[in-house]
Amino acid sequence: MDNLMAVILAAGEGKRMKSKKSKMLHRLCGKTFIERIYSTAKDTGINDCILVVGHKADQVIEYMGDKVKYVEQKEQLGTGHAVMQAQSYFENFNGYVVILCGDTPLITSDTIKKTIEYHKEKGNAATVITAEIENPYGYGRIVRDDRGNVVKIVEQRDATEEEKNIREINSGLYCFTARELAEALKSLDNNNDQGEYYLTDTIQILIKKGLKVGALKTDPDEVMGINDRVQLAEASNILRKKIAEKHMRSGVTIIDPSAVYIDEDIEIGIDTVIYPGTILEGNTKIGENCVIGPNTRLINAKIGNDTEVISSVIIDSSVGNETRVGPFAYIRPECTIGNNVKIGDFVEIKKSTIGNNTKIPHLAYVGDSSIGNRVNIACGVVTVNYDGKNKHRTIVSDDAFIGCNVNLVAPVTIEENAYIAAGSTINENVPANSLAIARQRQIVKEDYVKLNNMKK
Ligand code: UD1
Ligand code: CA
Repeated sequence: MDNLMAVILAAGEGKRMKSKKSKMLHRLCGKTFIERIYSTAKDTGINDCILVVGHKADQVIEYMGDKVKYVEQKEQLGTGHAVMQAQSYFENFNGYVVILCGDTPLITSDTIKKTIEYHKEKGNAATVITAEIENPYGYGRIVRDDRGNVVKIVEQRDATEEEKNIREINSGLYCFTARELAEALKSLDNNNDQGEYYLTDTIQILIKKGLKVGALKTDPDEVMGINDRVQLAEASNILRKKIAEKHMRSGVTIIDPSAVYIDEDIEIGIDTVIYPGTILEGNTKIGENCVIGPNTRLINAKIGNDTEVISSVIIDSSVGNETRVGPFAYIRPECTIGNNVKIGDFVEIKKSTIGNNTKIPHLAYVGDSSIGNRVNIACGVVTVNYDGKNKHRTIVSDDAFIGCNVNLVAPVTIEENAYIAAGSTINENVPANSLAIARQRQIVKEDYVKLNNMKK
């Protein structure tokens, strides 16, 4: 919407994360804080985002690129001071400014939308998002009068004993009418325990001017601030639970939702069953009626329907329908695996295409290869793809049979319907319909053991 703008506060140091990385670039279920907040703003219908950067600004700017506008807060003199840096963007803006915080990434677009609607409906100058929490220590408290109207926000360190008992906390997220915010910022001072310009003080300033201020209570889980890695894990668990619930409600069976790790944008089809120890990352997509896990990690993987992946790792690759992967298979980037394929135990596949109905049941390495349909790759087959300098391709055409312990020394082509005898080292192309044997003939020396006194 054109009359909405977001100012995202992200200049703070985030000292308690103890990290070389900006706090904004830490991740919750796969997504960085800043990416999450930005996409939440977008989902709310806010197209114009101004990011207040300071500490490790270069990292944040490099990461977000030109998706947002930036203002720099050179010295971190408080949340009010941070918003002042963006003032030129909204002082003549005939709309609403939503203030979001980089360290409060669990807020949802639903809640922000509700806040904006409530703000407009009530004709407020400011609307604060709040929550009732068990242990409000550390947060600013919402002080209300006898009639329940918001009077002010008081910070933990500036609160009286009585105010400290208030359990309604300030989320640090607000909707302001732009012009009123700009006016109120002019009256801010740093007359408090920390000597900072508190954005929270604008609430009292607006009330004194006779303007309306409101508060909207929301789910405490959405307003959790993340300051250290313990809170990061807590927030991850909150989000993880929500993600698992979303999938279960749309038809996915998750045996134990506390034991799976599903990133936010993963798609899973109905009747798929997810076993414990499954980690689904990036833009992984899983079809219907699959069995995934236990102990499986899929990163940017596309899985068809009716496919099983057990105790395996698949990265940047796709797998078709009715295929079985694992246990203990490793499918590395750039693989395309067809339908009704079997990739069995201790099989590694890299940068290869595997056709439909092909079987690689155990203990094989297939790299830089194109394997056709209905091929059998027996136990112990190795594509010898690397000569110490360069990688070479192996081509195995439809219906070929590669026996046990065969080395296919690339570049090499096995044509259709060819048969490679077990134990062969193949370094020349094999024509269609032929048998290739490339190994020593067996020699038997009768009575050798006896004659040489080898057994006592
Ligand atoms: C703030 C609120 C408090 C609220 C809490 C919710 C004030 C004065 N207090 O406290 O009422 O309960 O958030 O989490 O607003 N930031 C800047 N520049 C600064 C200071 C902060 O960009 O100079 C950014 C930080 O990066 C962070 C956000 O503003 O994203 C909040 O700052 P923080 O110092 O964590 O505020 P709190 O003390 O938690
Ligand atoms: Ca904070």
